[in-house]
Amino acid sequence: MRIAHISDLHFGSICWSPLQFLSKRWTGNLNFVFKRKKNFHYNRLIELIDLFKQQNVTHVFITGDLSVTSRRKEFKMARRYIDLLKNEGFAVFTIPGNHDQYTKRSYRKRSFYRFFDAKYDKGCSFDLKQDKVTYTPLQDGFWLMGIDTAVATSLISSEGYFSPQLEENFTKALEEIPKHEKVILMNHFPFFCNDSTKKQLLRGTLLKNILQKHPNVLLYLHGHTHRQTVADLRGSDLPIISDSGCTPHSKNGACHLFDFDDNKLKLDVYRYDGEWSKSESHSFKTT
Ligand SMILES: [Fe+2]
Ligand SMILES: [Fe+2]
Repeated sequence: MRIAHISDLHFGSICWSPLQFLSKRWTGNLNFVFKRKKNFHYNRLIELIDLFKQQNVTHVFITGDLSVTSRRKEFKMARRYIDLLKNEGFAVFTIPGNHDQYTKRSYRKRSFYRFFDAKYDKGCSFDLKQDKVTYTPLQDGFWLMGIDTAVATSLISSEGYFSPQLEENFTKALEEIPKHEKVILMNHFPFFCNDSTKKQLLRGTLLKNILQKHPNVLLYLHGHTHRQTVADLRGSDLPIISDSGCTPHSKNGACHLFDFDDNKLKLDVYRYDGEWSKSESHSFKTT
């Protein structure tokens, strides 16, 4: 099993529709026109496919913000990219970010799930769309779990929400996984707040408390910050943190590749400088 973690792909295109002014969409569109468009290099995502093939990647995990303002056109672009990955034989798993439930309407209709899977495994009793959590066994005693903490927010905030419903379902889902097996958890938001409180995960402390009671959650994969980070928090009874940053971004984009050994986890960070190449490596004992 060789896993790639990428995030915040932000597939977008300029929106000309006057209807954008009926929702928050116009702010995302303005931001796209003046900031994101020149900093985002989607060709790098296509070049990643060659890296994944060279590195024998088997699974690709994408931690949200696949779109800019949750438009159908943007979801279709992201979907086409995921289809390219799947056609190469990679197993691809996604969760939504705040940009994928950007307007009240897209959140209410859960438009994201018209394009992307709500369940990672047909046999799983939980699904992301209804229950905000889902999981699947992977290989070698590893499980993948995804949670949906994205909500539509006001013009000036991009908060997530770890709701009481999700708190209950997440705890139940974790209890269904054997304690001696390891969980890789995907959430768009970090559970701690290092940025403006307007970007935080509300009730993130409750998520942190649950994680501290479940040491078998080995890895916590997130995005949202657009800053590449690796941190081993196991000294505080928390998981190893992986934030691949905003993968197609000109300055801080990265891709993380994981290798699992019997008692070791290797994490290689790849950055783009004319081509994707390894910039640093981390090794963690897992016994
Ligand atoms: Fe983002
Ligand atoms: Fe985000």
